[in-house]
Amino acid sequence: MASPLRFDGRVVLVTGAGGGLGRAYALAFAERGASVVVNDLGGDIKGLSKGSLAAADKVVEEIRSKGGKAVANYDSVEAGEKVVRTALEAFGRIDVVVNNAGILRDNSFGRISDEDWDIIHRVHLRGSFQVTRAAWDHMKKQKFGRIVMTASASGIYGNFGQANYSAAKLGLLGLSNTLAIEGQKSNIHCNTIAPAAGSRMTQSIMPEDLVEALKPDYVAPLVLWLCHESCEENGSLFEVGGGWIGKLRWERALGAIVRQKNQPMTPEAVKANWKKICDFDNASKPQRIQESIGSIIEVLNKIDSERGVSTNPTSHAASTATSEFAGAIGHKLPPFSSAYTELEAIMYALGVGASIKEPKDMKFIYEGSTDFSCLPTFGVIIAQKPIVGGELSGIPGFSVNLEKVLHGEQYLELYKPLPRAGNLKCEAVIADVLDKGSGLVILVDVYSYFEEELVCYNQFSIFVVGSGGIGGKRTSDKVKVALAVPNRPPDAVLRDTTSLNQAALYRLSGDWNPLHIDPNFAGFAGFDKPILHGLCTFGFSARHVLQQYADNDVSRFKAIKVRFAKPVYPGQTLQTEMWKEGNRIHFQTKIEETGDVVISNAYVDLIPTSDTSAKTPSEGGKLQSTLVFEEIGRRLKDIGHEVAEKVNAVFEWHITKGGRTAAKWTVDLKSGSGKVYQGPAKGSADATFTLSDEDFMDVVLGKLDPQKAFFNGRLKARGNIMLSQKLQMILKDYAKL
Ligand code: NAI
Repeated sequence: MASPLRFDGRVVLVTGAGGGLGRAYALAFAERGASVVVNDLGGDIKGLSKGSLAAADKVVEEIRSKGGKAVANYDSVEAGEKVVRTALEAFGRIDVVVNNAGILRDNSFGRISDEDWDIIHRVHLRGSFQVTRAAWDHMKKQKFGRIVMTASASGIYGNFGQANYSAAKLGLLGLSNTLAIEGQKSNIHCNTIAPAAGSRMTQSIMPEDLVEALKPDYVAPLVLWLCHESCEENGSLFEVGGGWIGKLRWERALGAIVRQKNQPMTPEAVKANWKKICDFDNASKPQRIQESIGSIIEVLNKIDSERGVSTNPTSHAASTATSEFAGAIGHKLPPFSSAYTELEAIMYALGVGASIKEPKDMKFIYEGSTDFSCLPTFGVIIAQKPIVGGELSGIPGFSVNLEKVLHGEQYLELYKPLPRAGNLKCEAVIADVLDKGSGLVILVDVYSYFEEELVCYNQFSIFVVGSGGIGGKRTSDKVKVALAVPNRPPDAVLRDTTSLNQAALYRLSGDWNPLHIDPNFAGFAGFDKPILHGLCTFGFSARHVLQQYADNDVSRFKAIKVRFAKPVYPGQTLQTEMWKEGNRIHFQTKIEETGDVVISNAYVDLIPTSDTSAKTPSEGGKLQSTLVFEEIGRRLKDIGHEVAEKVNAVFEWHITKGGRTAAKWTVDLKSGSGKVYQGPAKGSADATFTLSDEDFMDVVLGKLDPQKAFFNGRLKARGNIMLSQKLQMILKDYAKL
């Protein structure tokens, strides 16, 4: 049985806890070990009559009589500082705030007086603000806090006679959403509930039976869970009542672009597109403001691009595609780990044809070999989980029919040989989406780390048949490009006959698609019989190159790129034709029996023999930004004094590679003639920027607008970000970067 959720040592403040829902929360927290501040100023439901201390006192007594710890506070939530002070004075800290106090001043909209409007906002919205702000710094310092806001279905859906109350209640959701973002890094989580419970507040609007049945006790468990230290939920909204709980989220129609380049935007165009604007089929579910604004900026780019948006019938589809792509590009798939031992490494090697017939293959299939090694192409197996696991169907706002998906190309780069066994952490991101006319190509980049070090990078190019031709871009600088083989007879050819069981054996490495074993399934997909996995042929070919040009030395393997051209049937003979051009071995793979090219435009990059011993993992990911920072440092020597006087601030950069921080740099323009050094700021930084090495270079080279990068989430900034404009101006003027 799961261990009970306890709150020992935690100090919980519940506002409006003298009755109704608040009382239920206070009792439940106390029962599970929390020290509770029971806040309630008494008063009637309209917040009119003068407070009676009895309400809070009664709940405190109830808690104490059961052996719990509680103190009362009788201030209005509008005096948030005082309310929180009671917690600090009585228990020395504050861990949880449940903003629950509330009143009603119902009236139809035309009859709402200023006073009725203001008092509702003061108690619900301003009161929650005051109490939470008073607790905020304490929570930040202790790096822990849990906050609950109480909204209402009236706010979410509207309710006759509750305009003032609905407005305040949904205001609380906005407040909560922002606190969730600002608190995240300090482990302060803020969520919102919209409860339904029988209480004096609902007495007048609900039948008596319902008031009785919808017990506050059926809401309290959600509040406790959201406030527990083990709960990671943050920035969410829940409806709860009667023993049922459901999470809510926003949905956004794919919408339509209704404007054309250099043309005014008209209400008629809005009218003409209205159906599409309101069509929730394939709607996206944006979760962050970056997703929301990012797609709008994408639209600007789209309209401003040379082609503009044409008025022909495809313009509609083009606009759909743009917003779909915008939501998908940069989307991170859930991180995953890939654990393996020698068993999986050997099974893979056998799956791609390593054999005891070839004595030099023993190192790949016998764990007792002195030089036992993982085949370099096992790197794709480590990274393939999101591809073979169907996760592409979960890309937001982007419908991928998995039955129509083909593996188009593959790139793999190793920064050091794969460990013989290990648990690698992997992060996958949709690097880009291209429209090839006959289909879409989704580029999925996967970065794999062993003990925090980037070991390999994969780019899967996934072709979605039939979804293209919708006006998306055809190329991307993210693509690892396939290269044609030289126009001369090959320098070397190696062959291997695959066994009839080759696909049956290879699939044990994790690609369980029945297409490769089940004749019926293969028939449905239009093949005579099950076909070999493209990545199996890829493994055969890479093994041939490694054998021919690197004497099976895995430390010499740097990268491989292939294009999958045609299927192979188990039992056919693979023939790898190779051309050596320096350290690049171009190759293509043919079926000997038919002459068909099955892998085309491929190459393997090898590390020259002399470099292998000197190669360190970090060299594999050498940062370009380093050169820029060094250059800034050099230039500051001459002009630093003047720049420091004008800027008077310290900037810190976190440069990421493969999604992780790879370097930190500080540019100190606060004193003397300024300093540039690697590492975090020695004092405190006025502004900190986080972005990838590639994006940093694009910003420096003027290819990427930093403001757009910020809005679409590629550049993160904290601190006084207005200062960055000053810095940009100064750097442009002085350093001509
Ligand atoms: P309730 O009236 O039983 O409890 C509210 C408590 O807040 C009262 O004890 C009252 O004295 C206290 N309070 C009022 N103004 C205060 C102030 N300025 N400072 C400190 N305490 C103050 O009502 P109930 O139903 O327990 O409501 C709790 C919260 O849940 C409220 O925010 C309400 O708007 C919300 N809610 C309740 C629903 C329900 O079905 N009961 C539905 C949707 C929202």
